[in-house]
Amino acid sequence: MTLNFKNILTLGKGLLLRRRVPLFVTFRITTRCNMKCRYCDSIQCRTEEMNTEQILNMIDELRELGMVKFGITGGEPLLREDIGEIIDHAQQKGVIVTLNTNGSFVPKRIEDLLGLHTLIVSIDGLEKTHEINRLRGSFASAMQAIKTARDRALNVWSLTVISKDNVSELDELIDLMRSMRVRMLFQPVEEWDIHSDAVSESLPSKQEFRRTIDKLISLKKKDKIIATSMSYLKLLHSWPIYPGFARCDVGRFSCNIMPNGDVISLKGRHNWRIG
Ligand SMILES: C[S@@+](CC[C@H](N)C(=O)[O-])C[C@H]1O[C@@H](n2cnc3c(N)ncnc32)[C@H](O)[C@@H]1O
Ligand code: SF4
Repeated sequence: MTLNFKNILTLGKGLLLRRRVPLFVTFRITTRCNMKCRYCDSIQCRTEEMNTEQILNMIDELRELGMVKFGITGGEPLLREDIGEIIDHAQQKGVIVTLNTNGSFVPKRIEDLLGLHTLIVSIDGLEKTHEINRLRGSFASAMQAIKTARDRALNVWSLTVISKDNVSELDELIDLMRSMRVRMLFQPVEEWDIHSDAVSESLPSKQEFRRTIDKLISLKKKDKIIATSMSYLKLLHSWPIYPGFARCDVGRFSCNIMPNGDVISLKGRHNWRIG
């Protein structure tokens, strides 16, 4: 993440004065999607969406409050026709803008994405594994999205949810992403609904997960390909029960916003409204 002077000042002030500052904002711009991935809750979270003007005003207000980074996610954000205008507006205000996508619409919408700091493309594993979770043909479109974005000199990261299906093929996936000059993010399967079979069926064993995190930690020490922070990887080591000292910054330095403008306490938990 690159920080300009204004952003560093805001960050420092927030830390020194121990103020609540929404430095890092994740905005779920829509819950609509062209896919129905196995463990994703987007379909269950249908809400109204703000219009373009409301979103631009929200960006201005968040910037005034100190926002440094604006992460746009979904649903599939590229289903919004106004995505280019929204990205450019935030970027022109000096905010670092990232966008998560399944990649399907990247080639068609690439001109809208050039204001991004980083495009984050979901990759759930090699082709077969990726398509167990997603649609047939979705691996090829994710690869094409990466190529299109790299050809336009966009910074591209992949995001892989660690699941029982991909733990055995991560070495091959890392080699593939390295060959495409893509840095990699990793996250665990979040149990948005503990009764969901799709979520529990995707979970790796605790031992498999820990072995994977150990591997990523040792790779991160010698290789820039792992974009996930070392502190997060160390925290993930104790997944699924995190130690008591692990502090959550949601509500202090970060916040999650739903398509209708509701501020929620946890990513994905649409019914945990706090503002
Ligand atoms: C919700 S999607 C939204 C952006 C876009 N549609 C995409 O697929 O990248 C963002 C990321 O969340 C991940 N995700 C979805 N459900 C999840 C869950 N239950 N636990 C962890 N990650 C999840 C997806 O795999 C994807 O990488
Ligand atoms: S993970 Fe992304 S692509 Fe898949 S259903 Fe959820 S929002 Fe759609």
